Amino acid sequence: MILSARLQAIADLVPISHTLADIGTDHGYIPFYLIRQNRIQYAIAADISEGSLNKARELIRQQNLEHCMETRLGDGLSVLSPGEANTILIAGMGGALIREILEQGDAAARSASTLILQPMIGQQELRKWLLNNGYAITDEELAKEGRRIYEIIVAVSDQTAAGYEKEVFYDVGWKLIEKKHPLLKEWMQGKIHGLEEIMDNLEKGKTGLSAARLQECKEKHRQYKEVYRCLIE
Ligand SMILES: C[S@@+](CC[C@H](N)C(=O)[O-])C[C@H]1O[C@@H](n2cnc3c(N)ncnc32)[C@H](O)[C@@H]1O
Repeated sequence: MILSARLQAIADLVPISHTLADIGTDHGYIPFYLIRQNRIQYAIAADISEGSLNKARELIRQQNLEHCMETRLGDGLSVLSPGEANTILIAGMGGALIREILEQGDAAARSASTLILQPMIGQQELRKWLLNNGYAITDEELAKEGRRIYEIIVAVSDQTAAGYEKEVFYDVGWKLIEKKHPLLKEWMQGKIHGLEEIMDNLEKGKTGLSAARLQECKEKHRQYKEVYRCLIE
């Protein structure tokens, strides 16, 4: 199976381990791929939607994977007992929903050795929540599909984890800056360009509200530029 760039980057981050739980599995491609690659021995493919889970069920049936991959219908981590999965993957959802799933399934989440999280939006809030709630971010990846760049966060339960020194590191992802990720320059250029467009529009608006928002954007722009300069030095 050829995975999309986003799914491949997620799969590459899953450590060799016994059991993976894929929460919100939908098609079930990542557990299927990892089993075929012998990177995991067992997969729990879970989803809140019967319709979504039927896709994973069909894949299991077609590929005769009943002995090493099972499906579970349910909300978030409620389908897992603590200690059942070494790695928990939650991908393709908003950051707020991922946070809610981790909060509600705290015991199961903390019992896993690794969490692989791929928020589609709300990445900044998710990073902040993780670091303020006893998780360390141990790695991050970017994956480009078409014109979109996706963010993937690897986290582990760690009560000693500390917050970031600068606000911008929650937005850009400190681990990406630290390793000067090859896609980071392009991604930062896009973020800076997007912000400049917003600032142009706000400047035309000139209301009290837009003046305050413009100040916020200018500060963010300054911080982005500072990160960008570090990348080209
Ligand atoms: C956009 S798909 C992502 C599928 C796959 N993980 C990926 O990254 O390609 C989101 C999936 O999450 C499921 N989902 C949404 N909320 C959920 C929840 N609270 N618990 C489990 N699954 C959920 C949806 O039914 C859907 O199948």
